[in-house]
Amino acid sequence: MVHAVPVPSEVEQPVEEVVRQLRALATPEGAAALARARALLADRTDVVAALSRLRAEFGADLGGPAWGVARQREKARAAFGPDADRMLFTGDTLEQAGRPELADRRAARLLAGGATTAVDLGCAAGTESLALARAGADVVAVDRDPVARELTAHNAAALGLAVQVRDADVVELVAAARDGRVAGCTAAVLDPARRAGGRRVLDPAGWSPPWSTVVALLDAVPCCVVKVAPGLDHDRVPEGVEAEWVSVGGSIVEALLWGRGVSTTWRRATVVRAGAVHELCADADPGRAPVAAPRGWLHEPDPAVIRSGLVATVADQLGATLVDGQIAYLTSDAPADSPWVTSYRITDVLPFSVKRLRGLLRERGIGRVVVKRRGSAVEPEALVKQLRGKGEGRAVVVVTRVADVPTVLLCEP
Ligand SMILES: C[S@@+](CC[C@H](N)C(=O)[O-])C[C@H]1O[C@@H](n2cnc3c(N)ncnc32)[C@H](O)[C@@H]1O
Repeated sequence: MVHAVPVPSEVEQPVEEVVRQLRALATPEGAAALARARALLADRTDVVAALSRLRAEFGADLGGPAWGVARQREKARAAFGPDADRMLFTGDTLEQAGRPELADRRAARLLAGGATTAVDLGCAAGTESLALARAGADVVAVDRDPVARELTAHNAAALGLAVQVRDADVVELVAAARDGRVAGCTAAVLDPARRAGGRRVLDPAGWSPPWSTVVALLDAVPCCVVKVAPGLDHDRVPEGVEAEWVSVGGSIVEALLWGRGVSTTWRRATVVRAGAVHELCADADPGRAPVAAPRGWLHEPDPAVIRSGLVATVADQLGATLVDGQIAYLTSDAPADSPWVTSYRITDVLPFSVKRLRGLLRERGIGRVVVKRRGSAVEPEALVKQLRGKGEGRAVVVVTRVADVPTVLLCEP
């Protein structure tokens, strides 16, 4: 197996070599090289100059890897905060890493029923293992990749957390699960790799471990949670399993399937906005919201609400209707003070025509627009340019379909 080595060239090297480099970085001299690399990055030193200084000072073996890890830490800081500067990552493992605050939330829920032992099935750089250990569990971290095991062991030790790291095949461990336990633990987190060769693997049968292992874990271990692709088809969610979609700042960041012992509802949309967490649940499919013509306000549901199939629940709460049976835009007579939607006052409803729209915007003195689209092939960026004018005013242009007719809803920003 090969790994993207933490050096700027992104050349792949054998795992043994990467493990050796990571071990060297974990020594006091490695720490000094990492500190120097961080300072050079902070000074915006040019890559070639930085590498030659690092190599001159710490040798070729430490210089390149220190620069590579310092760059990964710089990227990781946004999610991992100050912990990033004590942790080691490779490019691949950082790309696969979840958000620590969501892993903490997940660990707390998983262990709330009293489980004290937990296994992280495919630990990569250890995000889930660290969260489970922080939540107080005795943690076993499993990965078949030696680099992942090295990273998790280092990261746990660096953060003062106890995690037992093991080499095992998750497919085999799950197949051997008995009495609600896997790898000797009563709680489990599974986060299959959903990318291969730099590409997203759309068919869950191609994930690693594959979908069959996801289902087997959900069947065998009641206290478990599986991270899945946010695009997962609802038809795949097994009976009795809660599916949750999580958005942060208006973007979907993860989807989860909860084992039957920890499931408490049918679907859950979790919306994290401005640091606050809002949860919307439905114990059964709410079906489709009613459809009616646009009224005074347009409500754009959060993507977690849309993906979790809870638009009708929100419509019911807001007394709103869909503008089109196939499109997730809601409308009502009043703005909504709700975390589930963003509301815009509709000023005009017109059939889609760039010419008419330009005329209307000119008339209103609107020179800058934000374009949103749903159910239309329009390219928002191109339309923004086409609609740019001299006016000082601003507007939101929503390109969609109303009763299946291409329509523009002109809204106040
Ligand atoms: C998506 S990553 C996990 C990311 C991690 N949860 C995080 O947030 O940092 C999946 C991991 O599973 C490991 N893996 C995939 N298939 C495996 C298998 N059959 N047995 C053991 N580990 C496996 C990969 O090596 C990879 O490290």
